[in-house]
Amino acid sequence: MKRVMLIAMIFALTLSMAACGQITDGGNSSAGTQPLSEDTSVNSLESTQPEASTPSESPSSAAENPSETADGKVLIAYFSWSGNTQEMASYIAEQTGGDLLEIQPETPYPTNYSECGEIALAERDNNDRPAIANLPESIEEYDTLIIGYPIWWHTAPMIIGTFLENYDLSGMEVYPFTQSDSMDTEQFDNSIAFVRENAAGAAVHDGLFARPSNTEAIDAYLSENGLVQ
Ligand SMILES: Cc1cc2nc3c(=O)[nH]c(=O)nc-3n(C[C@H](O)[C@H](O)[C@H](O)COP(=O)(O)O)c2cc1C
Repeated sequence: MKRVMLIAMIFALTLSMAACGQITDGGNSSAGTQPLSEDTSVNSLESTQPEASTPSESPSSAAENPSETADGKVLIAYFSWSGNTQEMASYIAEQTGGDLLEIQPETPYPTNYSECGEIALAERDNNDRPAIANLPESIEEYDTLIIGYPIWWHTAPMIIGTFLENYDLSGMEVYPFTQSDSMDTEQFDNSIAFVRENAAGAAVHDGLFARPSNTEAIDAYLSENGLVQ
């Protein structure tokens, strides 16, 4: 009797171990060996996951995309020799949320004022297009270009022509801004005419002529033109 009971116990134990092995193997090896119900639950998880994640992703994408788009649409490109245009550009970038690009000449201008002046005058008289070291391949992602420069020899520095001429600006809204020592409006007008000549296809709006410290004038210009973030 004892022997019969022992055999029965060993048999029962073997059966239960075999059952455990099946679940583990089935779970780890292949879905094909899984019971249909488990298989279905895997499939239904896979199919519901994207649906479940889509709505939860959508609000955050919707929340992120507009700001990305707003940031991405405005480019503030500027050239500055002694930092004044740079100061304005940084302020404008803060107010508009636009991307900032400093136009850097391939051959830097001398730091000496009169040496720089001589080169700049020759460039203007020859209608040169000095090379840019960091010219972006494309600015197509932007639909607004706010372009800044100092007045050089009664107009815009020729490097602004290099930048503008490099792109097909069709459909681009262009807003020039500048400042100078004399703040002579005729020189400002000359510079706007230069921008218009070189920005083929773009809508060049009336520019901003203000000292960098005149944030009131800058703010007014930006809000009049709907450029404030
Ligand atoms: C090469 C050169 C030419 C300049 N020509 C003029 C000019 O014609 N009229 C003027 O009012 N200021 C002129 N300036 C002065 C600059 O417009 C002024 O210093 C401006 O604030 C410089 O801006 P930035 O610091 O962004 O370079 C000239 C400056 C330089 C270096």
